[in-house]
Amino acid sequence: MCPFLLAGFLVWFSAPLAGQKKDLDARVDSLLRLMTLEEKIGQMTQYNGFWEVTGPVPAGGDAKKKYDHLKSGQVGSMLNVTGVENVRKMQEMVVKETRLGIPLIFGLDVIHGHRTVFPIPLAEAASWDLGAVEKSARVGATEASARGVNWTFGPMVDITRDARWGRVMEGAGEDPYLGAKVAAARVKGFQGSDLSAPNTIAACAKHFAGYGFAEAGKDYNTVDVGTSTIFNAILPPFKAAAEAGVRTFMNSFNVLNGIPATGNAFLQREVLKGKWGFTGFVVSDWGSAWEMIDHGFARDLKHAAELAVNAGSDMDMESYGYVNHLKSLVEEGKVTMGVVDDAVRRILRVKFELGLIDDPYRYCDENREKTLVGAAEHHAAALEVAKKSIVLLKNEGGLLPLSKNQKKIGLIGVLASEKNSPLGSWRFGSIDSSAVSVLEGMQAISREVRFAQGPSLVSGVVDFGQELKINNTDRTGMKEAIALAKKSDVVVLVLGEHGLQSGEGRSRAYLGLPGLQQELLEAVYAVNKNIVLVLMNGRPLAIPWAASRVPAILEAWHLGSESGNAIAQTLFGDNNPSGKLPMSFPKTVGQLPLYYNHYATGRPGPKPDVFWSHYTDESNDPLYPFGFGLSYTAFAYSDLQVQVLGPGRVSVQASVKNTGNLAGEEVVQLYLRDKVASVARPVKELKGFRKISLKPGEAATVRFDLSEEELGFYSNTGEFVVEPGEFEVLVGGNSNEGLKGRFELPKK
Ligand code: BGC
Repeated sequence: MCPFLLAGFLVWFSAPLAGQKKDLDARVDSLLRLMTLEEKIGQMTQYNGFWEVTGPVPAGGDAKKKYDHLKSGQVGSMLNVTGVENVRKMQEMVVKETRLGIPLIFGLDVIHGHRTVFPIPLAEAASWDLGAVEKSARVGATEASARGVNWTFGPMVDITRDARWGRVMEGAGEDPYLGAKVAAARVKGFQGSDLSAPNTIAACAKHFAGYGFAEAGKDYNTVDVGTSTIFNAILPPFKAAAEAGVRTFMNSFNVLNGIPATGNAFLQREVLKGKWGFTGFVVSDWGSAWEMIDHGFARDLKHAAELAVNAGSDMDMESYGYVNHLKSLVEEGKVTMGVVDDAVRRILRVKFELGLIDDPYRYCDENREKTLVGAAEHHAAALEVAKKSIVLLKNEGGLLPLSKNQKKIGLIGVLASEKNSPLGSWRFGSIDSSAVSVLEGMQAISREVRFAQGPSLVSGVVDFGQELKINNTDRTGMKEAIALAKKSDVVVLVLGEHGLQSGEGRSRAYLGLPGLQQELLEAVYAVNKNIVLVLMNGRPLAIPWAASRVPAILEAWHLGSESGNAIAQTLFGDNNPSGKLPMSFPKTVGQLPLYYNHYATGRPGPKPDVFWSHYTDESNDPLYPFGFGLSYTAFAYSDLQVQVLGPGRVSVQASVKNTGNLAGEEVVQLYLRDKVASVARPVKELKGFRKISLKPGEAATVRFDLSEEELGFYSNTGEFVVEPGEFEVLVGGNSNEGLKGRFELPKK
């Protein structure tokens, strides 16, 4: 690469020299040497693109200021600017008008697909199919990159144990082992094997860290957890993402044990950039540096900027702290040039890796945009992933699958005809109301489907940033729904949450069916008990009434563009459900936080007296446990064999047989309990899983080779240790039942 002056501007020329491997660090350093402090701070600043570059620039205010900053090299990244035309125009402005012409990196939340919407991430995790998860991220990257985007703010890898938190829909659920595998698969999908290819984008592991442990499940709330939870539950998926090569991290809004994550040097400097040797950059969450003032951690924005940058937050998203104060902080000696240079180096490195410095318009190809965005093969992939994400929770008397000759099917519920809600939350780039509804999906298979909407779920505006108004009073449609139920042979009742009832800022204090849906369910049940309940929701729901009465329940989450097709094909048996819950379903909100891998107490039960750890008015058990999910066929487990091969090597195997009449897939799960340890271990922990496919009557031996990675844990000082002693083993189809064994791990 060689800089040369052209028409008053320093232009970066970097014609790719065929076959010549360039030294990335040297290129980064040579560029860094040419930069002024202001230009360096510019690279560390990210703005939201809220105006149209294709139209007139709004006069005055922030927009004008941002525009001027872009032209003077004070901005290194934009978020929420999409479409080749918009991206190209903005990139051109920066490349042509700034002194060094360093291209912008364009970030966007590509969370579950882009134009083609895949199932919400929690649903994808329910597939336990890492290939499917990777494929979804791959398609999301392909479409987003075709629209000029080169960086996604995903995967969200926050572990969470509280279904009240609306953002559970964005992650992989409650388990760090599954969460780590899913995190790595998503990173691979987004970034591919060559980051500079025009169809791959930089991924971002977020929110670092602890955000999913918000007290009482209330978004943005305090996080106060012990070190064992930090090291063993919160950090593993982030570490897995780092090991998979994720190029960026995003910190988070919350405080972690009193220190806001954005100003947390332990997390960002000591663990991430120190221990883990992460070479990419950290972006703040939206305004999270600024929010340290409200946390009572920073005096003012200048102080917040000082704390954030010194703690390792390299790029400021929408706080305006770096652009306004970093220069004087450096001049006053409160921030060293070394800290600034390190941050800029990291950012430039990713821009080089993406190929942006070599070609700022690499992601701006109108032809790719036209042919790839929303392509038919992307919809086919979205359908496959959606089918794998469905979880069968109950199927009494084999009510499902429905026969295609089934007469008089009554389809009831406003969500059954919804084309917007199934797209779920966090789906920028999609087209409103573009999902296939359940009604459309079922009518494509059977002519016997009659529909009644029942009462509406939401009244008024449905908007990402606005509180939803749930209808609790207007019973219009109730009578028609009951009348249809009466004359139907079977009722398919689609109930749950609107797609925008989960997501950011969407915590709930009640986890039942919202609005008038429970009333509708009970009214339908009173006239026809032959009900298949299809749940659409972004989080575990507490539905004990339905679980104890309704004969068949299908968990269908928010499945994206192909939602209705996936559900209909499953209802009519063209798809045999194989998903397993990535989060425990509670019986009531009072049980939360609820998670299978909890610690033992000194008073486990049950006991005949009251002096044991329990509720007097509800059992400790979940409604449906972690890892649970049925199939239209059945699987039998036998012949558990456990063999200790050495101090850090154990092999466990079991035989699994399809004992039913249909081909099906089963997720074989392995859990361990380290009986006695220097830091007490949970009652069980997932340490392996395999998704296998078996024909009727077919059996397979599933073997797990456990190494130190699965046998060890993190001490309270963050050291990974493997301790000898007794372990219990559970191999089965969910976290609650299976074959039990034990082994003694020898000393090294
Ligand atoms: C969210 C992030 C997201 C960012 C940019 C924030 O409000 O917490 O997850 O990436 O906005 O959209």
